[in-house]
Amino acid sequence: MENLLASTIDTNSQPPLNGATAATAPVLQLTNIEKVYQTATIETVALNRVNLTINRGEFVSIMGPSGCGKSTLLSLMGLLDEPTSGTIEVDGRPVQSYSDKELAGLRNLKIGFVFQSYHLINDLSVLDNVELPLLYRPKLSGRERRQRAVAALDKVGLSARTGHFPSQLSGGQRQRVAIARALVGGPEIILADEPTGNLDSVMGEEIMDLLLGLNKTEGVTIVMVTHDIQQAMKTGRVVRFFDGSQVG
Ligand SMILES: Nc1ncnc2c1ncn2[C@@H]1O[C@H](COP(=O)(O)OP(=O)(O)OP(=O)(O)O)[C@@H](O)[C@H]1O
Ligand SMILES: [Mg+2]
Repeated sequence: MENLLASTIDTNSQPPLNGATAATAPVLQLTNIEKVYQTATIETVALNRVNLTINRGEFVSIMGPSGCGKSTLLSLMGLLDEPTSGTIEVDGRPVQSYSDKELAGLRNLKIGFVFQSYHLINDLSVLDNVELPLLYRPKLSGRERRQRAVAALDKVGLSARTGHFPSQLSGGQRQRVAIARALVGGPEIILADEPTGNLDSVMGEEIMDLLLGLNKTEGVTIVMVTHDIQQAMKTGRVVRFFDGSQVG
């Protein structure tokens, strides 16, 4: 199988992963994070005083019961939403200090996000969905983008479905497309919200092995939400949440 990340990581500006300093440098740091959702009828404290550091090269699992704030946490880490209070630092710099352009670059190039509900675009084919993050790379030719998208789909075992539309896929296949889209740009960080939640155990293990491989051999930092303790035990660190707070 083609080494997709090795061929794409050179576009990132990060130093190589050699030496203890690089391996232990905080890549994401959340300090005193609170997230409150306000609707007409109810206020929900989704996260309450969360302090969490993710170091470069780590593979961290996030566990906890439904509604405890796991997806909220991941969307803050992915810079898709802002905390009500507290600070988020990326590579040691507060998010507020990045320009809008830099933030767009972080979201599109540095971080690969696997949404719990896939977020695929129904009007686009599987291949076009996976290619989307590469549209932010003007230096890549259309042909290179296509090749990388096919390689990413191959990694998740879906190269035979490139012309399908999301509505023509099973839930597990959609999930794999979402994973391919997160991988395609060769991100330094993958944030995955229950990436194997809709897969059978065999495919779930394959995806888990893929993520473990990306982490071990490519040094990709991974934060994964999971309900599966067996999967969590394979990762370097398990962080548990309950009712919006970290409990272990
Ligand atoms: N956009 C929103 N508006 C209002 N409340 C929200 C919103 N998103 C999440 N919540 C609430 O915040 C809390 C945390 O939700 P979140 O989706 O982070 O939980 P979760 O741990 O990911 O749960 P699950 O395991 O079911 O996916 C829940 O009580 C939820 O109802
Ligand atoms: Mg969730």
